[in-house]
Amino acid sequence: MQGPHLIEFSKVGAPGLGYLSVAQNSELPFPIQRVYWTYFTPDEVLRGHHAHHDLEQLIFAVSGQITFTLEDLNGQQQTFELSRPNIGLYIPRLYWRTIRFSHYAVLLCLASHEYDEADYIRDYDEFQRLGGRLKA
Ligand code: TYD
Repeated sequence: MQGPHLIEFSKVGAPGLGYLSVAQNSELPFPIQRVYWTYFTPDEVLRGHHAHHDLEQLIFAVSGQITFTLEDLNGQQQTFELSRPNIGLYIPRLYWRTIRFSHYAVLLCLASHEYDEADYIRDYDEFQRLGGRLKA
């Protein structure tokens, strides 16, 4: 299984004209089932604090800067700074994430499944138990 990584999408356009980037299923690590976006998140707020059993995601900062801290089942952490609208962050299943936003940042998420609350792991102890770091 591939870990979290950045994927660069092509840009069409020019300085003074503006740019367009496109994501289509044939070029993605998974077929898109859902798209959502978040906005107006105050910059003092940390969001996320969950992992997913099955969901895979591709995340863009279409505006502003977004910092993702990802932790795998072994407790290894990686941080990714998103600030270019043509760069996506691929997040596989089973990564605990915390997310910080700059003022007016807009996060766009392409997701592999429709919304299902049962797919969320919102309890950090449960996440640690899944990785065998915490005994039942
Ligand atoms: P959540 O995924 O916890 O957001 P974040 O990680 O950005 O803090 O979702 C916040 C709330 O929105 C939660 O109550 C579930 C709801 N929600 C939906 O109803 N549908 C969706 O597709 C998503 C992503 C969230």
